[in-house]
Amino acid sequence: METLELLVRNTSEVLTVEGSYTEPAERALTPRPNACVGVRRGRVLYVGPEGGLPPGTVGPSTRVIDAHGQFVGPGFVDPHTHAVFAGERANEFDLRNQGASYLQIAQAGGGIANTVRSTRFASEEDLIRLALPRLQTMLEYGITTAEVKSGYGLNLQDELKILKVVQRLSALQPLELVPTLLCAHAIPEEYREWREAYMDLCTREIIPAVAEQGLARFCDVFAEEGAFSLAEARRILVAAKKAGMRPRLHADQLTANGGAELAAEVGAATADHLEHVSDAGIRALAEAGVTAVLVPTSTLFLRVRPYAPGRKLREAGVNVALGTNLNPGSAMSENLPLAMGLACLENGLTAAEAYWATTRGAALALGLNTYGRITVGDPANLVVFSCSNYRHLPYHLGINHARIVIKDGHVVVENERALCP
Ligand code: NIG
Repeated sequence: METLELLVRNTSEVLTVEGSYTEPAERALTPRPNACVGVRRGRVLYVGPEGGLPPGTVGPSTRVIDAHGQFVGPGFVDPHTHAVFAGERANEFDLRNQGASYLQIAQAGGGIANTVRSTRFASEEDLIRLALPRLQTMLEYGITTAEVKSGYGLNLQDELKILKVVQRLSALQPLELVPTLLCAHAIPEEYREWREAYMDLCTREIIPAVAEQGLARFCDVFAEEGAFSLAEARRILVAAKKAGMRPRLHADQLTANGGAELAAEVGAATADHLEHVSDAGIRALAEAGVTAVLVPTSTLFLRVRPYAPGRKLREAGVNVALGTNLNPGSAMSENLPLAMGLACLENGLTAAEAYWATTRGAALALGLNTYGRITVGDPANLVVFSCSNYRHLPYHLGINHARIVIKDGHVVVENERALCP
């Protein structure tokens, strides 16, 4: 074996998360007690007992990281964010706490339309400057890969602008970003009386342009009262699929509308939110192999009930992933461990299921087959935590537990602080 560039040693355990969602999550986490992890050229070269390392693999050039008897796991994957936007909506938060609903605020011209106005006004440079601190906070929580949606442009020029910003941000800092087109997030104000024309703009101009420029891996739709009907969502997703993007769907969030069934019908990678999913919808997701992405921070933040039925989804055999849903309207939070805590307290997941949902479960949702686990040959995306086992993440609620974060073999967070911009 070649000399290691990095060795993480003295762990309580390394969770390699190499199992499957079809087995009990505790087993799927595949813990390796007291193991060490060796890294070379950005990839995992060794996982196992320190005594099993061949002589000479640890040399003077090897950086040795002492885990101080705490646990190590894969970098988190956040499969649902709207992290690129301008402006803020603290006033709407206040209004909701005084009884206004998300839909009422949207109908009065606030909500997504509010953020669209400020995001259209912002330049690429403005959006980059505003997003960088959010991404840094996410990285400090141990998130090494995140999906980011457009959806605050709602015209050709501004949807392209946001996706280009996502691309530039991914190259500018260590948190790797996976882009999703969300031109069907809301009907823009200027098209309110011309829905059909906006549908044409999405399917004939925005989707083809984004596909041609290779700016998005997924295409998502907000299927909801006040946003897009199921028929409209189907039309957008079929066009996106033809153009080479994988469908996703904001489904059954505020009302039960058969969104999960549509996600299954179009072969979506994920159905997200699912607070109001029906039993038939759960069965459809299981049969079609669609991942359920739960975002309980939004359920809390919008003060709506119920929380999505995470327990039922797991028991039906659905891969369940968890995201922050970072956005200015329904979840102004980069805190993935908080989402894990809520998933245990309110969605009915066990701590092991919540951990799966933020690592391997989320990587599979994004089609990232070598992410969300610690396997020899895979990219070395690791977190050294400041607690001895994963149960402390949801239990010690909402605090940061990631001490050292490693992305592609490079230490990018030390003592809970990001080292680079
Ligand atoms: O996932 N539900 C739709 N989209 C976001 C909210 C976006 C916003 O309010 O700005 C969500 O919750």
